[in-house]
Amino acid sequence: MPGTTGARMTVNGTETPISPCAPHTTALDLLRERGLTGTKEGCAEGECGACSVMVARPGVHKPTDWVAVNACLVPAAALDGQEIVTAEGLATAGEPGTAPALHPVQEEMAVRGGSQCGYCTPGFVCSMAAEYYRPGRCEHSATGTETADPDAEAKRGADAEHGPNGFDLHALSGNLCRCTGYRPIRDAAFAVGAPADDDPLARRRELPPPAPVTTEYAQGGRVFLRKSTLAETLRVLRERPDAVVVAGSTDWGVEVNIRARRADCVIAIDRLPELRELRVESGHIEIGAALTLTEIERRLDGDVPLLAALFPQFASRLIRNGATLGGNLGTGSPIGDSAPVLLALDASLVLTDADGERVVPLADYFTGYRQSVRRPGELIRAVRVPLPLAPVTAFHKIAKRRFDDISSVAVAFALDIEDGLVRTARISLGGVAATPIRSLATEAALEGKPWSARTAEAAARVLRGEGTPMSDHRASALYRSAMLGQSLLKLHAQTTEAVSS
Ligand code: FES
Ligand code: FES
Repeated sequence: MPGTTGARMTVNGTETPISPCAPHTTALDLLRERGLTGTKEGCAEGECGACSVMVARPGVHKPTDWVAVNACLVPAAALDGQEIVTAEGLATAGEPGTAPALHPVQEEMAVRGGSQCGYCTPGFVCSMAAEYYRPGRCEHSATGTETADPDAEAKRGADAEHGPNGFDLHALSGNLCRCTGYRPIRDAAFAVGAPADDDPLARRRELPPPAPVTTEYAQGGRVFLRKSTLAETLRVLRERPDAVVVAGSTDWGVEVNIRARRADCVIAIDRLPELRELRVESGHIEIGAALTLTEIERRLDGDVPLLAALFPQFASRLIRNGATLGGNLGTGSPIGDSAPVLLALDASLVLTDADGERVVPLADYFTGYRQSVRRPGELIRAVRVPLPLAPVTAFHKIAKRRFDDISSVAVAFALDIEDGLVRTARISLGGVAATPIRSLATEAALEGKPWSARTAEAAARVLRGEGTPMSDHRASALYRSAMLGQSLLKLHAQTTEAVSS
C-alpha cells in the first residue's frame, strides 16, 4: 500500500513524492534510491557526516537558514513539505554540452586538495555550504571581504577554530575524512568568501521558510504523523501512548538503523509552535523543548554562559542542528550532556498532556535508569532556567575525544562566590550513577567556606566519593572518580584569579 497522503519534498529545486517508501525510511535511503548517490552512508548513526544534506529551516537572523543535517537519521516522511539541497544541487548547470559550474565550496575543496577518495566529500561540502550561508559569518570575519587568505589568519585575529572569513570549524565537527587529512579541508573552509548577490541559495534565505505541513504517512500498518497544533498532538498521544515522539530523530534514527527498531506510530513535534518559543520572563528563561540546540545557542548568544559552554561539547554541529533539550531529557540517558548543566542551573521542566500542564524541578524528574516522572501521553513543552544566574559556572566534559564524543564523566558547576566566600554551590554530575545527580555532599563542603585552595582540595576529596561510577569500555570507575576531583581543582585554578581581582 503506498503512503496514504501526497507527502512531497523539494529536492534541489524539484518537487518529488516521498511515496513509495516505509514510514521509517531515512531521507538518505530515499535520496539514494532517487539517484542522488552523492549523499553517502558511512556509519548510519550520525557520526561521520557522509550523509550531510542542507534543509531550509526557520532562520534565526534571516527568514530562512540553510541547515546541515544527517540524512541517515531523519525519516523521509519528516521532510514532507520541506526543501532539501544535496551536493548535486550545489553546482550550477552550465550551457548544454558544458560541465556544471562548481559551487564556491566545491571549487575550494577541489583546488586545495580537500578530496582524495571522495567518499566523505559530498557530506563535507554540504556542511561547509551551510556554514558558507550562515547569516553574519562574513560580517563577523576579520576581513569582511569576499576572499580571504588562509595564511593570514594569525595576523587577523582568527583562532584555531575560526577562519579569517568567519568560518566556524565546528560546522565540520560531525564530518569525518579517512584519507585526505583535515588541513586541506580546513584551508578550503577558511578560503571561501561571501555568497554573490545573485546566488540563488543566498537569496532563498530572504524568503519565508517552508511552512510546516500536517503529515499522515501510512504504509504496512505503520504511520508517521505530524499534527499542526500541540492540542491535536496531545490528543493523539492519549490515544496512542505507544507512539514514539521525535523531534530531530537523532536518537530514534540510531535505534531504527542500528538496532532495527520499528514503531507502529511515530509522531513528529519539532515544528509545533508551542514547543519552539524562547522567552525571557522576570524570574526565568523559558526554552521551548523542540528548539534545536543550534537555535538555542544562536538565540541566547552567550546570555547563559553555562549553556554556551555546553553547546560546543554536545555531539557535532550536524547533531545539534536536529537535537533538542526535550529529546535529550526525554530519553532519560544518564550520560546525556544537557542534564548535568540544567541541574546545576536549577532548571524545571514544563510537562504537558491533554489535561493540562505541571512544572517539575529537574532534580525530581529522573527516577531511575532511563526512567522519569513523565507519564504516558505527556510531553516536555519547555525548560525553565531560573534567574538570576550564578556568576561562576563551568562545564567539564571528560571524554576520549575533545568534540563529538560521549562523556566518561561530565561535571557542571554553578557557584555564587562573593568576597572570596562560597555563598551557594550547585554541582551536578553525569556518568557516575543510573541518573544524572547533584553532588550534595560536595556542595555542603563548599558552602560558607572561603574559595581557597584548601577548601577546593577538601571538597575535591568529597567529590571523588560522589556517585557510584562503573568501569566500562570508556573509563574505569577509579578514573571517573579521579576526574571528578580534578574537575573541581581545575575550576578553582581557572577562577581564583577572576574572583580575587
Ligand atoms: Fe554517518 Fe549519516 S551515515 S552520519
Ligand atoms: Fe577519502 Fe575523505 S577523501 S574519506
